[in-house]
Amino acid sequence: MPLELKADRDVVLRPLRLKHAATLFALTRENERWLRRWLPWLDAVTKLEHTRAFITRMRELERTGVALTFTIWHREELVGVAGFNWIDRANRSATMGYWLAEGAAGQGVMTKAVKALTEHAFRTLDLHRVEIRAAVRNRASRAIPERLGFRHEGTLRQAEWLYGKAVNHAIYGRLATDRGASGHR
Ligand SMILES: CC(C)(COP(=O)(O)OP(=O)(O)OC[C@H]1O[C@@H](n2cnc3c(N)ncnc32)[C@H](O)[C@@H]1OP(=O)(O)O)[C@@H](O)C(=O)NCCC(=O)NCCS
Repeated sequence: MPLELKADRDVVLRPLRLKHAATLFALTRENERWLRRWLPWLDAVTKLEHTRAFITRMRELERTGVALTFTIWHREELVGVAGFNWIDRANRSATMGYWLAEGAAGQGVMTKAVKALTEHAFRTLDLHRVEIRAAVRNRASRAIPERLGFRHEGTLRQAEWLYGKAVNHAIYGRLATDRGASGHR
């Protein structure tokens, strides 16, 4: 298990651990309004123990190789989370999810983190396909796989409930054999 993934000198990904619980919980609460625009789980994270339970669950999934979650650090400050929330070994594929604190947005941090994770999937985890799903109207999120040369493969109708409202998902896929830009800019 890698200690950390270095995206560049300012952006580092470190495996999610219980020692991060208090900082991550505070960050989640501070960004509750920003995150709930596109993430369905904010009402389930209202106490520190909810974040601790999430981390414990992800650690268990990491031990069985079906998920892998990282904290994102920008200049040594915890600014978000990214990882493979489902690794399908039989089909050598994984689905990626991510979020960033509002204050860290607009600087390319997540694009660099997703690039490093995608390379880790192909080079270290020996996966063949990485998939990213985002609400059709979540332009900022969709811009990341688009910048990194993922292919837009289609739309899933009403694939997610966001606080009582169904949203369509745009699907992006990238294969280890795809040529072209995982190294943008
Ligand atoms: C999705 C999310 C991570 C995108 O954040 P973001 O800041 O737009 O993405 P990045 O960190 O890659 O930054 C890209 C921006 O930085 C700019 N930028 C500056 N330097 C850059 C660099 N070296 N590389 C890439 N972009 C750079 C880009 O131009 C872009 O700015 P723009 O949006 O004005 O075009 C963020 O909006 C978020 O967490 N939202 C809430 C939760 C969410 O939606 N999660 C995803 C669910 S599918």
